[in-house]
Amino acid sequence: MLTPRSTIMPKAGSFPAHADLGAVLVSEVAIKRRLKKLGEEIMATYGNEEITAISIINGAIIFTAGLLREIRNPVRLDCIRITSYRNETKSIGKPQILHSLTLDISDRHVLLIDDILDTGKTLAMVVQVIKKLGPTSVRTCVLLEKSGRREVDFEPDFVGFKIPDKFVVGYGLDFAERYRNLPCIGVLKAHLQNPPEWA
Ligand code: IMP
Ligand code: MG
Repeated sequence: MLTPRSTIMPKAGSFPAHADLGAVLVSEVAIKRRLKKLGEEIMATYGNEEITAISIINGAIIFTAGLLREIRNPVRLDCIRITSYRNETKSIGKPQILHSLTLDISDRHVLLIDDILDTGKTLAMVVQVIKKLGPTSVRTCVLLEKSGRREVDFEPDFVGFKIPDKFVVGYGLDFAERYRNLPCIGVLKAHLQNPPEWA
């Protein structure tokens, strides 16, 4: 027999990891509403064309899953994994591709999806690599755009939310691989941003 949902899932407001957030920047409801609008923007841009979505994992997994269900075009999905070049909450080096694409993207309309545009290094590098594979078009979509952090010139085509320069977690974004499953986006309490046992 199935366990009733209420006995295994706390209500949204009492999601246990919420207790680790100092502030919620974007609520679960606001994300759902924005994804619908983003889906409409994307459908209006592509018309009836097929889209080849490329999700930058792990961070974009949750966003990709939510967004693609708001898009009614034919969609092919692939993932790309980039080496983490970050040291805890700060960017330190140059991103590199760890696992590459499996789909052929030549003559396709590519929509590259990432969780957050911060310094811009990741997306700038991945776009460069993808363009060499001969797609018809390459557009980018990010759930979050952090202000005042750009180190390379980069303009995404679709943006969910612009946020201030704070380290955020939830809806796919992690700190030391935790909090990706939070349904909202928030800022961790200061004392949780560097626990040595999580390294
Ligand atoms: P960029 O290359 O500096 O633009 O950084 C992009 C990657 O850094 C994102 O895909 C995230 O994985 C990570 N990142 C940047 N800012 C944050 C944040 O506030 N929280 C969690 N991850 C972040
Ligand atoms: Mg990350």
